[in-house]
Amino acid sequence: MKTEIIYSPTESALSRAASVLKNGGLVAFPTETVYGLGGHGLCTDSADKIYAAKGRPTDNPLILHLASADEAEKYAYTCPMYYKLAMAFMPGPLTVILPKKEIVPDRVTGGLDTVALRVPAHPVASALLKRCDFPIAAPSANTSGRPSPTEAEHVIEDLDGRIDMIVAGGSCEIGVESTIVSIDGEHLTLLRPGAITPEMLSCFCEELTIDPSLERPLLEGERPLAPGMKYRHYAPKAQVVLLEGSEEDILAFMKEQQEKAEIGLLCSDEQFYALSGKNVISYGKNQQEEAQRLFACLREFDRREHVKTIYAPKPQKDGVGLAVYNRLAKAAGFTVKKVKEQ
Ligand code: TXA
Ligand code: MG
Repeated sequence: MKTEIIYSPTESALSRAASVLKNGGLVAFPTETVYGLGGHGLCTDSADKIYAAKGRPTDNPLILHLASADEAEKYAYTCPMYYKLAMAFMPGPLTVILPKKEIVPDRVTGGLDTVALRVPAHPVASALLKRCDFPIAAPSANTSGRPSPTEAEHVIEDLDGRIDMIVAGGSCEIGVESTIVSIDGEHLTLLRPGAITPEMLSCFCEELTIDPSLERPLLEGERPLAPGMKYRHYAPKAQVVLLEGSEEDILAFMKEQQEKAEIGLLCSDEQFYALSGKNVISYGKNQQEEAQRLFACLREFDRREHVKTIYAPKPQKDGVGLAVYNRLAKAAGFTVKKVKEQ
């Protein structure tokens, strides 16, 4: 299939994209988190095409993207807590899980009786949604298992020739996928960390439960609350290893490794300036930048085929750092190396 790539999202290009979706085709588009691979959200055939294009297991449900928060009523049984969160965080990088209504096909929810809903804030995503009189089902627009796409180039790399259209829209501002939270009355459970942090969500409920599998490997037979979190994810081809220890010991360890051709080092700007070597990549000077550049850096290591192991200091878990930690730890399969104290 020939994939049409739109570099300038004009009114007429977006109307064309909306009509491709309406007719059952697939269109990738930018959101503020990562690029999404969109299909008609109420159409089983479109959901099947999404799973096939990504090579994604069909038990991993899709998020329905809406033009505005009040549309949730059409697809889910909402509640006062939903509206509290919607007032605070929508449009934005938050996905909520609610009991689904009949109109949502089982194929979209992977057979679950709940549905994931999100109102993206990116202007291109909003403009596209406003042109559709149906929700857009959209997982991240990567091949299943690869790092999520934060630039149009990444989508082209993974999906060119497999979908109808790609709307390019620069680098995604946030860079990690939306926070997923399930609502049960006044109780919230965090299923996937993102830019809406546990600290922010805690302002809206007495107690926020955090799915324990976000911070450690799955136990035997354990199922995470978001089915997609069970898969090895975000993984570059090389083995990622997290480094634990004091700042000085970590820097000393990275200095020992920096000249080895088969070793990649993923570090902060500060560490980058203290290191040399061809395979040292910095992903930023603070947690926001780390989130924004993490997936692009992992893809960059994939281009360097001689790199077999990537060492990265273990990220702090506060704020959006929890999302960075979760994605990197999953990429590493939770492999941690303790750098010895001297
Ligand atoms: O930022 C994002 O959320 C991006 C952009 C494109 O909006 N989308 C995204 O979709 O990350 P995806 O499919 O890559 O991740 C969706 C996650 C999966 O882990 C899936 O298992 C979970 O949401 N999910 C979907 N429906 C669910 C449900 N009813 N209950 C629990 N988890 C659900
Ligand atoms: Mg994904």
